[in-house]
Amino acid sequence: MKIDKNKRTKTSSGFYVSQHASVNTDNPVPTPEAEAPDVLRVAYMELQVTDLAASREFYVDVLGLHVTHEDDNEIYLRSSEEFIHHNLLLKKGPVAAVGAFSYRVRSPEDVDAAEAFYKEMGCRTERRKDGFVRGIGDSVRVEDPLGFPYEFFYEVEHVERLAWRYDLHVPGALVRLDHFNQVTPDVPRAARYMQDLGFRVTEEISDGETVFAAWMRRKPTVHDTAMTGGNGPRMHHVAFATHEKHNILAICDRLGALRRSDAIERGPGRHGVSNAFYLYLRDPDGHRVEIYTQDYWTGDPDNPVVSWDVHDNQRRDWWGTPVVPSWYTDASLVLDLDGNPKEVIERTDDSEMEVTIGADGFSYTRPDDENMPDWKKGEFKLGNQL
Ligand SMILES: [Fe+2]
Repeated sequence: MKIDKNKRTKTSSGFYVSQHASVNTDNPVPTPEAEAPDVLRVAYMELQVTDLAASREFYVDVLGLHVTHEDDNEIYLRSSEEFIHHNLLLKKGPVAAVGAFSYRVRSPEDVDAAEAFYKEMGCRTERRKDGFVRGIGDSVRVEDPLGFPYEFFYEVEHVERLAWRYDLHVPGALVRLDHFNQVTPDVPRAARYMQDLGFRVTEEISDGETVFAAWMRRKPTVHDTAMTGGNGPRMHHVAFATHEKHNILAICDRLGALRRSDAIERGPGRHGVSNAFYLYLRDPDGHRVEIYTQDYWTGDPDNPVVSWDVHDNQRRDWWGTPVVPSWYTDASLVLDLDGNPKEVIERTDDSEMEVTIGADGFSYTRPDDENMPDWKKGEFKLGNQL
């Protein structure tokens, strides 16, 4: 089909494409005059865990992440293709929460730019020339306008990239950190602020008025982070990439063999949004980890924005598999710069779970459902399967 770039067009796959995201907010974070830092990519997450040994067993023994450094209080882990010091820092603490969502910027000066950008927005910032954690130099941490602890750095210790070390790889090898996913009450406000930070929206879910979620990127994939509508600030998940789909199936097989299938929350499956193959796991503290592979290139300047109707039952799972309710409701707390959990603000806009009971495979709500088999009509698909 021919696409008119100037219009919103319904594709033969059932979603819409346009040049601009439909992010309109009457409650924007004022755009700073200071130039945004040039963010390269998602770099690492600092995760506070309550039982370091249990977390080590999950992330190292089961998922196969590589240890860069460890002691009695923290473990630094990286994926097999990574050359910076770490992608995940597990830190022992009193409460399960996220300490930092960390991004790498293009130059040392971009750390200055990040500090000025957030100071102008009136956010609390803290700069440490020697870094906050091992392996990372000059960094600034901020409590961003949405309440998330964001970090920006350039200087980093290089470590060996283990991509060629096939002797160390496991069948479900995690090769890269792919993205974060954040829960926030007001998605348009969040997306607009992230656009000011230089991110581009690649996909979104809406009903034409309410935006339920938005995906945004710096690196040329579908996202570095996504904003999911809900009570927040909370962390929905952190996602690692595998090379291929079969690597994700290998993780499922491994968890089954270890009698750890309870760690699987949702999937495996194929997303509508992002087109990626996915699996959601819960770590021993309940932190959600996504294993993700094979989304698509988004690096062209006129990359089309994909919009999904919230009532499209294939948007969250391309095969129409049910989304379990915990996936909508559960998320991890985030910490302020003093290490205290941030207060969670309730979402007042419509909840995706409530408007789409029926659009997630629990039942079907799309208007043209006369062609549906009887067992899919009007009732709960999950209930019928049971
Ligand atoms: Fe994700």
